[in-house]
Amino acid sequence: MQKAFAAIIFWLPTILLAISDPPDPIYEQRSPSNRDGIGKFYMGREISHVMGHQGAAWLERPERERDERTDLLVEALPMKKGDIVADIGAGSGYFAWRLAKKVGTSGKILAVDIQPEMLKILEANMENHGVSDRVKPILGKITDPKLPNESVDLALIVDVYHELSHPYEMTQKMVEALKPGGVIAFVEYRSEDPMVPIKRLHKMTEEQVKKEMTVHDLEYVETLDILPQQHIILFKKPEK
Ligand SMILES: C[S@@+](CC[C@H](N)C(=O)[O-])C[C@H]1O[C@@H](n2cnc3c(N)ncnc32)[C@H](O)[C@@H]1O
Repeated sequence: MQKAFAAIIFWLPTILLAISDPPDPIYEQRSPSNRDGIGKFYMGREISHVMGHQGAAWLERPERERDERTDLLVEALPMKKGDIVADIGAGSGYFAWRLAKKVGTSGKILAVDIQPEMLKILEANMENHGVSDRVKPILGKITDPKLPNESVDLALIVDVYHELSHPYEMTQKMVEALKPGGVIAFVEYRSEDPMVPIKRLHKMTEEQVKKEMTVHDLEYVETLDILPQQHIILFKKPEK
C-alpha cells in the first residue's frame, strides 16, 4: 500500500503534465537546423519562419515576372472565367489581381493572409488595378484560412506552404474548402536544384510535397515543371 502511494507521488507530476499538455502526434520540436527554421519539424522537414510584411517590396520587385516567369504560372493554372479562387498566403496581392483579371467580373478571389499589414498592402494594390470588387481579403489564422466549405474551384499557394506553422491543419481546411473536383496548386522553389538562389528551408522537393499530401483526401494530378525556379504541383479533391 505504502509502495503504491509512493509510486503515485513519484509519477503524479508526469501524469498531470501529460493531461494538461498532451504530446503532439504530428509535429516534432528540435533545435533549429539553421537561423531560417523554427525548430518545428513535419514529416522530416523543418518549417521556416514566416516572411514578414516588411518583405512586401521583394514580392513586388519588377524583375519577378522575368526571373520567375509568373506570367507562365498564371497562364498554366487550371482555372476559368467565373471561378472562385483562393490565394492562400496572398501577401501583397502579387497574384491576386492577376487571378482577378483571369476570373473576370463573374468570378471571385479569396485572398487569405495572417498578417493584417499584408492585407492592407493587398487592398491598396487591388484598388490600383481596379479589381477590388472581385477580391475579398480574409484574415486567416495559422491553423485555418477561414474559407467557406466546398466553395473553392482552385486554391493557389505560392511560396507559402514551407512556412506554414501548421501545414497539416491548414491543408485539412483547404481540402474542406475545395469543391469536389477542385484543385490545389502548390508552387515551391525547387529544392532539387542548387542553382535556385533561395535559402534551403524556403525551397521544397516535389517528393516532400507529395509525401505530405498522402495524409489528406487528395489525388495527385501532375507536376508542371515549366518555370525556371519553381515546381507547380497539382492535387485534386476527389469527386463525390
Ligand atoms: C513569401 S510570402 C508569399 C506571398 C505571395 N503568395 C506571393 O508569392 O507573392 C508568404 C505569405 O504567406 C503568409 N502566411 C504564412 N502562414 C500563413 C497561414 N497559415 N495562412 C495564411 N497566410 C500565411 C505570410 O503572412 C506571407 O504573406
